[in-house]
Amino acid sequence: MLHASTTIDPAFRVAPVRRRTFGSFVEHLGRGVYTGIYEPHHPTADADGLRTDVLDLVRELGVSTVRYPGGNFVSAYRWEDGVGPKDQRPTRLDLAWRAVETNQFGLDEFMRWAEKAGVEPMMAVNLGTRGVLEAMDLLEYCNYPGGTTTSDQRVAHGRTEPYGVTMWCLGNELDGPWQIGHRTAHEYGRIAAETARAMRFVQPDLELVACGSSHYGMPTFGTWERTVLEETYDLVDHISLHAYYQERDGDLASFLASARNMDDYIRAAVATADSVRAELKRDKRIQISFDEWNVWYQAPNPEPWQYPPGLRAGQRWPQAPRQLENIYTVADAVVVGNLLISLLRHSDRVTAACQAQLVNVIAPIFTEPGGRAWKQSIFHPFALTSAAAAGEVLWCETRAPDVETATYGEVPVVDAVATHDPDGGQAVVFVVNRSTAEPVTFEADARAVGAGRVQRCLTLADEDVYATNTAEEPERVRPRDNPRVRLREGLLSVVLPPVSWSMVTLATDGS
Ligand code: AHR
Repeated sequence: MLHASTTIDPAFRVAPVRRRTFGSFVEHLGRGVYTGIYEPHHPTADADGLRTDVLDLVRELGVSTVRYPGGNFVSAYRWEDGVGPKDQRPTRLDLAWRAVETNQFGLDEFMRWAEKAGVEPMMAVNLGTRGVLEAMDLLEYCNYPGGTTTSDQRVAHGRTEPYGVTMWCLGNELDGPWQIGHRTAHEYGRIAAETARAMRFVQPDLELVACGSSHYGMPTFGTWERTVLEETYDLVDHISLHAYYQERDGDLASFLASARNMDDYIRAAVATADSVRAELKRDKRIQISFDEWNVWYQAPNPEPWQYPPGLRAGQRWPQAPRQLENIYTVADAVVVGNLLISLLRHSDRVTAACQAQLVNVIAPIFTEPGGRAWKQSIFHPFALTSAAAAGEVLWCETRAPDVETATYGEVPVVDAVATHDPDGGQAVVFVVNRSTAEPVTFEADARAVGAGRVQRCLTLADEDVYATNTAEEPERVRPRDNPRVRLREGLLSVVLPPVSWSMVTLATDGS
């Protein structure tokens, strides 16, 4: 048995828990929208064609903010196609995912869905194939009260009150050659700055996100952020980061240490943003919007001159095909739990994040057309962290043996973060055991938060780290009460099985 320890102390405050850490993402991709959140003929569909079984799961997931409509999709999207009478909406080719987009679901449907789900909408504008004018029009349609042609279109489409969307992404992954309308950092920085300037003329108090890198390994990482922020510093609030992780070549140990990459990536992006701050002599700090992150088993992207698997020359493209339908394991859930630990730990600078995505497409919720909806393994750490994290984030410095990984070298076997809500009388510690073979006794000195009692200790682990949930067995992977926990005089001790994610809730109000 390995042994690790930490201290939970209000003196180690990082930042408040930010609700936007628990954002998600709905893109017009695969079955994310069609037969995901929207399926008019589904037995649970409401009058708007929205699946209420999925809405229930979204609420249970505890999602705060949802980014829409892409992703790669947004870079060739005409938002006007998705508003107005449905029988007059055009059907278009979606070049990003080689599919047909019917536009039966668009902006107003998304806003209605967001209201029913109780989430904040976060819109992305197309800066791949469009620009300043279309972004201004979209903002006016969404947020202007009325009395202009564009805002009155919204009213004519049934929505009198403006939507009041605060957070806007200035394009998507324009650093990537796979992006339709891919740009150099300087080209992107210029159009992002001019779009931001124009959008602020319409509404000054927006929160704007400039595109950062698509992943840490991008050859342009660092110089991209520097150049983009040199152009946009005074006009934007956030720079985005995206990252996806997967187990490669059976190397489970490296995969379990994925949060090490996320930690380094965040620190490097913050350092770059702060160096532009110093160079420009500004007081303001740019925050990170980690608006795409998850586990994703990626197939190589087809090049523009190749047909993707299943498509041949002369064939019609499919509508809402099964794309990116990853089925998640116990190990994937542990990594997702650890990535949330990393995001919380950096709450001083990561002020928004979106798990990508929400339904069917690399998602915590899975559906069958006309059939059931259920929770994938990764649903659980997200839902539990979102529900329990409150008050302040507390840094947990761990003393732990290292595990050797091929990708990251030596990493501590456990990784933890805590939250403390003095008003609610609760502290919560989130912790992973990244050993593939050994249990760990994890001890936390929680005297400084006045821990008096363990309210609950939940652990997600399994003899089979590749176990998954299915329509027939939707509860195969789920967290279970961990009886191997005790608290004596403020000292917590819990046994963490190998490849596990755990959450221990402590009463700190003397009850
Ligand atoms: O989330 C899937 C895709 O990943 C998004 O469309 C894109 O932004 C990223 O590359």
